[in-house]
Amino acid sequence: MLADVATLLRCPACHGELWVEASVVRCQQGHQFDVSRQGYVNLLGTAQPASADTAAMVQARAQFLAGGHYLPLARAVCAAVGAGEGPVVELGSGTAYYLSAVLQRRPQSVGMAIDVSVPACRRAAKAHPRIGAVVADAWGQLPVMDRCADVVLVVFAPRRGAEIARVLRPGGRLVVLTPAADHLGELVEPLGLLRVDQRKDERLRAGLEPWLVVREAVSVRFSLSLDATDVEQLAAMGPSAFHSTAAERQRRVAALTLPTTVTASVTVTTLCSRP
Ligand SMILES: C[S@@+](CC[C@H](N)C(=O)[O-])C[C@H]1O[C@@H](n2cnc3c(N)ncnc32)[C@H](O)[C@@H]1O
Ligand SMILES: [Zn+2]
Repeated sequence: MLADVATLLRCPACHGELWVEASVVRCQQGHQFDVSRQGYVNLLGTAQPASADTAAMVQARAQFLAGGHYLPLARAVCAAVGAGEGPVVELGSGTAYYLSAVLQRRPQSVGMAIDVSVPACRRAAKAHPRIGAVVADAWGQLPVMDRCADVVLVVFAPRRGAEIARVLRPGGRLVVLTPAADHLGELVEPLGLLRVDQRKDERLRAGLEPWLVVREAVSVRFSLSLDATDVEQLAAMGPSAFHSTAAERQRRVAALTLPTTVTASVTVTTLCSRP
């Protein structure tokens, strides 16, 4: 666990400062949390909830992202985050693919990857030398100090407006990437993927606007050419994988004409804290 990232952490028990000592993160009140062999710290305090990505989902995501298919999304996220030196916190970071891309463009920033999934944090902890990974629930109170983050980043993941506004420094920004209604549309029926909520944008704003002001919303749309392995990984990494077996996914992929062209379609929204 990076010392620079540990100083941004808030003790989940007493809300005091945390720091790293050998292989433990501790606070003044004596609460302490082990740093794992892989370098992440678990501040969850309970078992993982059912929404946590499994090891198989995380592996499928890592393999799919390594294929470069979502590079345009990483570029759009980097453009929305912009230059700067302050800390970047990613919620529901998964393998920290997007946080790593952002840190490449911000050589002075450290990054905190927060995910409720232990297998995701194992990977995130090793994704970039300036990342510290933390197992925590983005729906709950974030284990992050008030007003310390220059940027909070959320890509295909949950977010809670009040907590994000609390941890952002004055003038800091939240960058959220959400799927548009036609994202991966060609695969929804054949693979039995979960459909994107048509009112996703409305829900995003309703959940954030009491605390944050929308500055910009950019649509990003492009075509992907996917072979059988790509499509299998895509089906295995998303939320639909909670409701299907590998055998069922393979049977569905085998029925497709491959390679296939699929639309990627997302919105990148940038918000600032309310004064
Ligand atoms: C669809 S994946 C996106 C991962 C990553 N942002 C990416 O796009 O590569 C959603 C991620 O959110 C995490 N997640 C789900 N519920 C969460 C929660 N309550 N708090 C923190 N992370 C959560 C999952 O474990 C998973 O890694
Ligand atoms: Zn404490």
